[in-house]
Amino acid sequence: MLLNNIRLKNYRKFRDEFIEFPRGILGIIGRNGVGKSTIFEAIGWALYGSVMSRSGKDEIKSQNAPEGEICRAELEFSLGGHNYKIVRELQGKSPLSRAFVFIDGSNLPEVARDSEVNKYVEKLLGMDYVTFMRSVYAKQKELASLSILTRAERQKVIRRMLNIDKIDLAVDAIRTDKRDKQEFIRGIEFKLEDMKKLKQQQNNTTKEIEGLKEKIDTLEIKRTRLEKKKGRTRKSRDKQEVLYKKHNEIKNSISKLSSKLEGLTQRKNELLKEEQKLKKEKQTLATLEPKEELYEKKKRQKEAMDELRLRHNRKNDLKRSVKQKQREIKTQNRLIKETQNRLLPLKDIDRKYKKAQKDLKEIKRKKMILDRDTKEIIKKESVFKSKIEELSEKKDEISSLGPNSKCPVCFRRLGKTHKDILNHFEKEITKIKGEYQKIRNIKGKLASQEKQIKDNEARLEKHKDALNKKLARKSGLEAKLRNQKQELSKATTKLAKEKSELKSLVHVKFNDVQYKKLKTELESLSKIRDEIIRLRKDVSRLPQVLQDGKINSKAIAAQEKELKTQKKALAELKFDEGKYEKTKRTFEQVSDDLSGCETNLEKEEGNLKVKDRELKTIKDKITEQKTYRVKIKSTQTDIQYLERLESLMSDFRNELINRIRPLLTARASYLFRELTDDRYPLIELDEDYNIYIVDENQKYGLKRYSGGEEDLANLCLRIAMSQVIGERSGAEINFMALDEIFGSQDESRRINILNAFNKLTNQFAQIILITHIDTIREKLPYVLRIEENSNKESHAQFE
Ligand SMILES: Nc1ncnc2c1ncn2[C@@H]1O[C@H](COP(=O)(O)OP(=O)(O)OP(=O)(O)O)[C@@H](O)[C@H]1O
Ligand SMILES: [Mg+2]
Repeated sequence: MLLNNIRLKNYRKFRDEFIEFPRGILGIIGRNGVGKSTIFEAIGWALYGSVMSRSGKDEIKSQNAPEGEICRAELEFSLGGHNYKIVRELQGKSPLSRAFVFIDGSNLPEVARDSEVNKYVEKLLGMDYVTFMRSVYAKQKELASLSILTRAERQKVIRRMLNIDKIDLAVDAIRTDKRDKQEFIRGIEFKLEDMKKLKQQQNNTTKEIEGLKEKIDTLEIKRTRLEKKKGRTRKSRDKQEVLYKKHNEIKNSISKLSSKLEGLTQRKNELLKEEQKLKKEKQTLATLEPKEELYEKKKRQKEAMDELRLRHNRKNDLKRSVKQKQREIKTQNRLIKETQNRLLPLKDIDRKYKKAQKDLKEIKRKKMILDRDTKEIIKKESVFKSKIEELSEKKDEISSLGPNSKCPVCFRRLGKTHKDILNHFEKEITKIKGEYQKIRNIKGKLASQEKQIKDNEARLEKHKDALNKKLARKSGLEAKLRNQKQELSKATTKLAKEKSELKSLVHVKFNDVQYKKLKTELESLSKIRDEIIRLRKDVSRLPQVLQDGKINSKAIAAQEKELKTQKKALAELKFDEGKYEKTKRTFEQVSDDLSGCETNLEKEEGNLKVKDRELKTIKDKITEQKTYRVKIKSTQTDIQYLERLESLMSDFRNELINRIRPLLTARASYLFRELTDDRYPLIELDEDYNIYIVDENQKYGLKRYSGGEEDLANLCLRIAMSQVIGERSGAEINFMALDEIFGSQDESRRINILNAFNKLTNQFAQIILITHIDTIREKLPYVLRIEENSNKESHAQFE
C-alpha cells in the first residue's frame, strides 16, 4: 500500500488542503499544535471512520467552518495494481457520516455505505484499525515504554501490539467457561437423590394404589346394593307416610269437631240458664207494674210542690231584701246630707278664685309698668352720672392746663376765659347734679313701690293656691254627692219593684213537712220504677234467647252426626303406628348405610387421587434425576473438551511467542546493524522482551549503552514489530509514519537516525517523519511545512 494524496475539507485546523505524498522520506514539520498529527489521523479516519478519530465525530469539523459546509477527507492510495479513492464526510449538526469507495478513477462508487466501507477496507488491507495503527504508526511514547516498563507490563504491551493478547483473552474465556461448567455440575450434584430409594417409593405407591382401587370396587358394589334396598324401603315408607298423614288429618278433624261440640253444649247450658232467669224476671215485673201509676201521680204532686216551694222561697228572699234596701236608703240619705253640709262653706269659692286671679293679673300689670319705669330711671341715672363725670374730667383738665393753654376747639390762648370756662363747667355740674338727685329720689320711691307690689303678689299667689285646693275639694265633694244620689235613686227604684213583687206573693203558703214526706215516698217509688224499666229491658230479650236455643240445638245435632262419620272413617283406616315407625326406621337405617358407604367411597377416591399425584411426583423426580445425570455427563464431556482446548491454546500462544521472538530478533538486529553501520551486529531479546546488544561477541543489557543507542535499539524493535504485524496480516504495507520519535536525541544522533532511515527505504517505500524540530529539514528530501495563519487555520506547503 502506498499513499498518493489526501484532500481535507474543513477537517480540524485545515479548511481546504490538498497534500501529495511522495515516495521516500517525507518530513512533516511545524510548531506544536499546528496540525501535523492531524494529517495522519485524517488518513486513518478516511480508512476506518470515527474509531480512528481522537475525539467524538461532532468535534472533527473545523471550528471556523460555516454552518452549512461539509467536513470531508478524500484519500487516494495504490494497492495491488489498483488506485483507490475513499471519500468520507460528515454533514449536519449532529453529523451524519457518509463514505464511498471509488476504484481506478471510476465515478461510480464501489461501496457507498458508511459501515460497508469500513468492512471493505478491513478486508482490502487484511487488518482491522488497531492492527493498522500498530503496524504503520509509531509514537515516541511507545518507544520509551519498551525500556521503561516492568517485565509484566512490557510483556503485556508487546503481546497487545502483536495481537497475542487475544489468545490470552481466549484462554481466560475458556477457563471461565470451564469454571462455570464445573460450578453447574456442583449445583446439579447437590440436587441428586438416591435413585434406588426413589424406585422403591414408586413400587410402594403403585401397590398402595392397587389396594385402594380394590377397596373402591368393593365399596361401589356395596353402594349399588344399598341403593336398590333404599328404593324398596322408600316405597313402603311412602305408603305408610300417606296412611299416617290421612290418620292425622281425620284425628285433627275429630278433635276440632269435639271442641266445637263442647262449645255448642256450653252455649246450650248458658242459654237455658238465661231463659230461666228471664222467665223469673217476667213474673216479678207483673207484680211491680201496678205501682208505676202511683209513682206518676206522686211525681206530679211533687212537681207542683216544687213550684210552690220556689215561690215561697222567693217571697222570703224579697222580704229580707226590702228590709235591707230600706236600711240602705236611710243610710244613703244621711250621707247625702253630710256631703251637702260639707259643700256649704265652699259655695262662693269659684267667685273668690276668679277675683284672686283678676287681682293677681292687675298686680302683674302694675309690676310690669314699674319695671319699665325703673329701667328708664336707671338709664337716666347712668346718663347723668356719666355726664357729671365727663364735665368734671373736662373741668379738671382745663383747670390743670391753666389760663396759658390753647383752646382745644379754636386753638386760641384761653387767658381770661379760663376762669369763665371753669365757672361755666361748675354751674353745669351743679345743675346736672340737682337733676341727678331728683332722679335718685324717684328711683328710691320706685324701689319701695316695687317691694310693696312684690309682697302683694306673693300674698295673692298664696291666696290663689289655697283657693285652688278648695276648688279641687269642692269638685270632689260634688262628684261624691252625684254618686250618692244615683245610688239612692237606684235603691229606691229596686225597693219599689220588690215591694210590688212581694205584694203578688202575699198569698203563697208552703207546707214543708208535707213536702218532705212526699219526697221520701217518691224516692222509694222511683227505685221501683227503675227496677221496672230494667226488668222490661231484660224481658224483651226472652224471644231472642228462645230462638238462639233452637238454633244451637240444631247445630249440636249436625256436629254429632259429622263426628260419628269421622270416627267411623278413622276405624276403617286401620292405621298401625308401630308398623309406621318400623318402616320409617328401616328406611332411615338403609339411607344412613348408603351415605356412610358413599362417604367411604369418596374418602378412598380422595386417597387414590393423592396417591396418584404422589406417584406422578415420584415419576417426575425420577425423570428429572435421569436428566440431571445426562446433563452432568454431557457437561463433564464439555469440560474435558475445554481442558483440551485450554492446553491447546496455551501451547499455541507459547508457540507463537517462541516463533515471533526469533523473528523480532532477526528483524531488529538487521535494522540495528544497518542503522549503526555494522557497529553492532546483533540485538537479542529474552523471554521477557528485555533487549540485549551484542558487542564484541558479548551481549549486554541496554543500560551499558548510551541514551541514543538505547533509543535506536528501541526504534529498531518497534519497526521490527511493525514489520512482523504487517507480515502476519498478509497485507503489503509499504509505508510507515513516525510521530515525534526524536525525543532525547541530540543533533548528531538525529542525523544518524535520518541517515539510517535513508537505508530503510528499500524496506519502506514511504516513510513519514512528523516532527517539530526545524533543523532536520536540511537532511530530508521532501519537507512539508505546516503553518498557521492569523485565523488559526493551518496550511501545508512543500519547501
Ligand atoms: N475541529 C477543530 N477545529 C479547529 N482546530 C482543531 C479542531 N480539532 C482540534 N483542533 C486543534 O488542532 C490542534 C492539534 O493538532 P495536532 O495534534 O495535529 O498538532 P501537532 O502539530 O501534531 O502538535 P504537536 O507538535 O504538539 O504534536 C490543536 O491546537 C487543536 O486545538
Ligand atoms: Mg502531534
